[in-house]
Amino acid sequence: MDFHNADHSSANSKKLSSKEKKLKRREELAKKKAVDEAIKAAYLKDDHLADFPAFHIYDRNGLLVHLKSGSGEHLSSPMKRYIQELLKVNMEGVYGPQWAAEEKIKRREMVSREALYIFVQSLQSAQLDSINNREAMHKCYWTGNGDPVVAFVHYRFIVEEEIPVVYVYELQLEQCVQGRGLGKFLMQLIELIARKNNMRAVMLTVQKRNTSAMNFYTSKLRYTVSNISPSRVDPLIGAEKSYEILCKTFAHEAKTKLEEDGCSGAN
Ligand SMILES: CC(C)(COP(=O)(O)OP(=O)(O)OC[C@H]1O[C@@H](n2cnc3c(N)ncnc32)[C@H](O)[C@@H]1OP(=O)(O)O)[C@@H](O)C(=O)NCCC(=O)NCCS
Repeated sequence: MDFHNADHSSANSKKLSSKEKKLKRREELAKKKAVDEAIKAAYLKDDHLADFPAFHIYDRNGLLVHLKSGSGEHLSSPMKRYIQELLKVNMEGVYGPQWAAEEKIKRREMVSREALYIFVQSLQSAQLDSINNREAMHKCYWTGNGDPVVAFVHYRFIVEEEIPVVYVYELQLEQCVQGRGLGKFLMQLIELIARKNNMRAVMLTVQKRNTSAMNFYTSKLRYTVSNISPSRVDPLIGAEKSYEILCKTFAHEAKTKLEEDGCSGAN
């Protein structure tokens, strides 16, 4: 055996592998930088709704509402109260005894500077198509300034498993406007906002007890349980958790890291 040559080739391969490592590291840093820049650019935009004029008004199934952008930093006091009340009405039963703790978390999240909103306001009560609806609408909450708000989405641009995503923190409709396509419309808008801002997926958390929301996302909107959801990371831990993390991906790497088996960093 030629030891000299063997040493030489091993030194070469070491050199090569350290070069490769450096290159890989550089690529990773460039990728991280691009992801951070995409998030930063998305937050620099004032009004994401402005990119989608077709989504400014929803006029279907007896509902006539218009959409407006907002941010956690600039919520008026009546709007904060409205959000808290609607969350309580819709979610207290779902969370059960956990609600008190969860409510505190949600109150903090609500006013975060990263919190972005789409508010849905009723344009006029005259368009209500039946006595029943009119009665239902009277039970809707009012922010006290201007048109009544009937629903909202709270979303953020964040990084999950090194992938830039839109995370839907809340999608809340008052009962009187549920089941008329508005939730689907809002999620379509969120997906468009995600794509337009170079996000690679939309993600959200759903309580397992909220079977109607779970069906809405998985059956109707084709969201899947993410591989970072507790039940997929470890079924034993998953069984103890009250929630699932769902996602819809738009790019190959996002699909690999957030949807497919065995590729999550959490595994
Ligand atoms: C869950 C929620 C966002 C759905 O919005 P929505 O406006 O009521 O639903 P939509 O009318 O847009 O429904 C869209 C489609 O899903 C279907 N769908 C709605 N709710 C469903 C349910 N519980 N099970 C199965 N399908 C459902 C509708 O039939 C419709 O199908 P189509 O497109 O074939 O007609 C809304 O009901 C809500 O705010 N619920 C209370 C708060 C909540 O649970 N939020 C989610 C927290 S993660």
